[in-house]
Amino acid sequence: MQIFYDHNSLQSFIKSQRERNATIGFAPTMGALHDGHLSLYAKARQENDIVVASIFINPTQFDNVKDLQKYPRNFDKDIQILENSSLVDAVYIPSDKDIYPEVMERKKYDFGGIEKEMEGEFREGHFDGVGTVVEKLFLQVQPNTAYFGEKDYQQLAIVEQLVEIRDLPVKIIGVPIFREKNGLAMSSRNVRLSETQRESAKIIYETLLMIEEWFRVITIPEIIERVSKIFEDEEGMVLEYFKIADEKTLKETDFFYKDKNYRAFIVVFVDDVRLIDNIHLS
Ligand code: PAJ
Repeated sequence: MQIFYDHNSLQSFIKSQRERNATIGFAPTMGALHDGHLSLYAKARQENDIVVASIFINPTQFDNVKDLQKYPRNFDKDIQILENSSLVDAVYIPSDKDIYPEVMERKKYDFGGIEKEMEGEFREGHFDGVGTVVEKLFLQVQPNTAYFGEKDYQQLAIVEQLVEIRDLPVKIIGVPIFREKNGLAMSSRNVRLSETQRESAKIIYETLLMIEEWFRVITIPEIIERVSKIFEDEEGMVLEYFKIADEKTLKETDFFYKDKNYRAFIVVFVDDVRLIDNIHLS
């Protein structure tokens, strides 16, 4: 596996791959890698000649400095994980200057309204920061196909929109949520949970599975009431939000229309660790 620490060295690698018409599959990350990240590379491996990873903790997508400072950083361990997986041909670990050569600023995007829903309400400017870094990484890595996890479902929708409005020649693929044995969605933040917390956090996925059953037989207000009650009774857990939304527009709904697809979205704090999950309702 090749490692590139700056844009220049990456550029000559990408150029040589382009010259030999190799297809490039790419998935960007912020490091602290786990099996959820590797599931993106496993999919990319099946569908491309070359697989490229990136690790860049993007300052402009954090709405709060503390969260940025607390973000786990262990690039040596990440490199080892990628190396051992044999799923990746090259990893790009740029500096701030490679991504933000002039000013460290987020661009302003109009993603058609989806940026204002859910995470957008709670994390000011977050998706402008994501759009800025993903657009830059796409320009530098020049992937044919890029892979994003459904765990951050709204981010996946934003990136699809980004490609559309900027007319970027990249195909976007959503990859299903990879879970721990007990059902908890894998996340870089899970290392901050104690064993007991990790075990009790499985209630998040268990709740989503129950919702999948309930949504055929009870109304959305009734579902919301049940979900609120579950988390009121859970010690050390606070429900930040729970929403059932149209999978395309991400607009919250209080009624199921037959010809539309829906998804349930949940965010729960376990102490100060913010956990996010979702499920498709079919
Ligand atoms: P990060 O949180 O490191 O996630 C990188 C990619 O891994 C995202 O597409 C995310 O959805 C996916 N992922 C994380 N956990 C997953 C799981 N359990 N199952 C499947 N996929 C999972 O998301 C970001 O970084 C950043 O916002 C980024 C896109 C890199 C831009 O900075």
